[in-house]
Amino acid sequence: MAIKCIGILTSGGDAPGMNAAIRAVTRTAIYSGLTVKGIMRGYRGLITGEIIELRTENVSNTIQRGGTMLKTARCVEFRSREGRQVAYETMQREGIDALVVIGGDGTLSGAREFAGEFDIPIVGLPGTIDNDLNGTDVTIGYDTALNTIMDAVDKIRDTASSHDRLFFVEVMGRESGFLALNSALAAGAEAAIIPEFVTEVDQLAEFIQNGLRKSKSSSIVLVAESEVTGGAMGLAERVKKEYPQYDVRVTILGHIQRGGSPTASDRIIASRMGEAAIIALLDGQRNIMIGIENQEIVYVPLSKAVNHEKSLNRATLDTLKKLSI
Ligand code: F6P
Repeated sequence: MAIKCIGILTSGGDAPGMNAAIRAVTRTAIYSGLTVKGIMRGYRGLITGEIIELRTENVSNTIQRGGTMLKTARCVEFRSREGRQVAYETMQREGIDALVVIGGDGTLSGAREFAGEFDIPIVGLPGTIDNDLNGTDVTIGYDTALNTIMDAVDKIRDTASSHDRLFFVEVMGRESGFLALNSALAAGAEAAIIPEFVTEVDQLAEFIQNGLRKSKSSSIVLVAESEVTGGAMGLAERVKKEYPQYDVRVTILGHIQRGGSPTASDRIIASRMGEAAIIALLDGQRNIMIGIENQEIVYVPLSKAVNHEKSLNRATLDTLKKLSI
């Protein structure tokens, strides 16, 4: 069946660059003669029927904005078969032939399930600050979040060094260390403590024994949020007990990392990926995520994108160690 109308939604945690992606999908679709419907609040809009038509002027003046103009949500109803049935019926009623979904792991897992149950072409775009989707070098929002963290750590460094303190700065990542590791490198931090290596080594003990205060009177450690490591709070508690000589403080950056105007890099990948999503759908591709590897657009099966195998570059950790002596 020829695709005449596509639906677009953003779901899960918002990420800077989502608007640039919505704009690119909308304009490429209209350029290709399709009608575009914006589904509000992620999969919830498919259940409640909150759907608007998107014309080219509706996405004007949005490329530079953080957040998502279509709003977002984590929809519990869509996790059940009954909920997805309602979503399918809404699509039929609205005449939506295919979907472009923008989001992270949960969003793309939902898309995979939905596409498997009903005969709907779906293309996903990786929109998450966590960068934890397999098959793409970067996700939309990751670069902006890295820059936000770097700016915050630059400021924390002023007070850390004035007081000779050890700071644990917790960043997001949902059990994934991309943000912590690469922002540590970008901000010249002394270490990164990330969930990926938690079973291999006691990262805190290693950092204190090898690095802390060799040549410095203050230190900044980037910590990925994680139930396994206990995050920044958990590590600070350990330091207070095991190494009471250190004056330790904690900063949890929280949702500040998800906001703000997207960087040029995020706007560019969002625009390229958004265009590629429509080209792929018109080309008969379905149940894939658009990725970028080595600067080139790639088409990743949804099952591969969400399989949690994306691995960190170990060499980056070694670089960080060398540069923080
Ligand atoms: O998926 C992005 C993310 O920022 C994660 O890193 C974090 O765990 C989560 O969202 C927090 O989201 P919320 O507070 O919106 O539920």
